[in-house]
Amino acid sequence: MHSKIRSGLLAVILVSILSSATLLQENGAPVVQIIAPQGNMQFTWGQYVPFRIRVIDNEDGNSEYEEILSQEVIMTVHYFSDSLEVQENLNEGQSSHFDILSWMGASNCFTCHNAKAKLIGPSFLQIAERYAHQGDAVEYLSQKVTQGTTGTWGSQIMPAQPHLSSEGLKKAIQWILKNGSRQDFNYFTGLEGAFKTPAKIEGFEDRAICVFTAQYTDHGLENVPGSAKKGIDSIVLSRRQDH
Ligand code: HEC
Repeated sequence: MHSKIRSGLLAVILVSILSSATLLQENGAPVVQIIAPQGNMQFTWGQYVPFRIRVIDNEDGNSEYEEILSQEVIMTVHYFSDSLEVQENLNEGQSSHFDILSWMGASNCFTCHNAKAKLIGPSFLQIAERYAHQGDAVEYLSQKVTQGTTGTWGSQIMPAQPHLSSEGLKKAIQWILKNGSRQDFNYFTGLEGAFKTPAKIEGFEDRAICVFTAQYTDHGLENVPGSAKKGIDSIVLSRRQDH
């Protein structure tokens, strides 16, 4: 009698576990956490700020076990002249920045290109300075990236990348030309490292604010296209008052 009830209960539990596993074919959102810097940190101009990010995703894995690709963890550092500016500007395409940066991360651009410093290829800052005022730059550069190129910036080769979607690539190039030379905006990838705050930005006085944001877009469920989800974390750093 007793054992009958027990096995009946077990069956009910088993059935409910099985059905929730098949019915709940839903991708869980990743959890992104900025471990460092901490929100109460104050920054100065021209300072190295160490950072560390943790990402946990049910499907993709845990960054503590090296299961998350560091080039897919995208950070932006955005400076504002004071906190009122933050309120007004946070909606300024925060998510469109991340969509394009995630596309570039997943397309391996950051293996060879940095935001501000030359790597294997020129920095996006150098590219923006050279082409921002050239009328046909988007068309011209998309073609060069697709077909591969060498000799313009040195002897390194950018291999042909015919697999890239031309729509994605054009958006990325437009974005690079528009944002590449901004002093108040930096971006990079990784789980751990340090970024440097700019030398003093003209017009930014004591009340300057830095918003540091990290985002990870997961890979979604293999059999459910479009199921990718984002996790995001953001902290605000204020400038150290020197008196
Ligand atoms: C394997 C390394 C590598 C990868 C990956 C790579 N690039 Fe490049 N890229 C280079 C190098 C090297 C150059 C400079 C080539 C030259 O001197 O002509 C370059 C040049 C460029 C230029 C300037 C071209 C010119 O004629 O001035 C743009 C724009 C560019 N890359 C964008 C991208 C984008 C966007 C991606 C990702 C979709 C990407 N690159 C991926 C290595 C790479």
